[in-house]
Amino acid sequence: MRIDVLTLFPEFIHAAAAVGVVGRAQQRGLIEVAAWNPRDFTHDNYRRVDERTFGGGPGMVMSTRPLTDCLAAIRTAVPEPARVIYLTPQGARLTQRRVRELALLPRLALVCGRYEGIDERLIAREIDEEISIGDYVLSGGELGAAVIIDAVGRLQPGALNDADSAAHDSFEDGLLDCPHYTRPEVDAQGDAVPAVLLSGDHAAIARWRRREALGRTWLRRPDLLARMTLSRADRALLDD
Ligand code: ADE
Repeated sequence: MRIDVLTLFPEFIHAAAAVGVVGRAQQRGLIEVAAWNPRDFTHDNYRRVDERTFGGGPGMVMSTRPLTDCLAAIRTAVPEPARVIYLTPQGARLTQRRVRELALLPRLALVCGRYEGIDERLIAREIDEEISIGDYVLSGGELGAAVIIDAVGRLQPGALNDADSAAHDSFEDGLLDCPHYTRPEVDAQGDAVPAVLLSGDHAAIARWRRREALGRTWLRRPDLLARMTLSRADRALLDD
């Protein structure tokens, strides 16, 4: 998969994509991330990408010309058509379901706004989809782009070492994840691991994990449970 990012801070995107699972996926050639600075597509001495907003009021807006030219260069660099996504609090909230769908695409272009955002005409002409990473306002789209790069990057086949581990992620089955423990059985503070996990009884362990996931989701994210139809076995576990 190839991801091109239009950003005033290419170094931020390079740093975010260089580490951990996504960094390794890049080294393995599973994903390629490139950053493009719209300032490189300006023609004035100040390399200006923003203008005052029409109609008055505070704040600056990113203007269409450098962004249009930057997107054209991104398109020319790689012929494969990209799904063009603009990161904005006005967008649809990102979910694991959407992440899974985006991860299947061969190419994404992520547009990061700064200031009050980008000129609406550019959105109308160039943007396929607007995505928000949550109901709060960031000073730019770069963190959202980094979130998408990470979330879709780790789903590229071969990116995770344990082939199974994405299947057990939170949200993959509509629930939050169950708790996890590792050695020692009793830690230096005297806290013990739940005994069932040491029992070797795989059915009991699976039941315990499912009940913990259900219970946590019920306590912390009842909205997720409300959207699911629980099996009779799940309802029994919740009632336990
Ligand atoms: N840019 C500013 N705030 C944002 C948000 N919540 N999600 C995505 N992009 C943003």
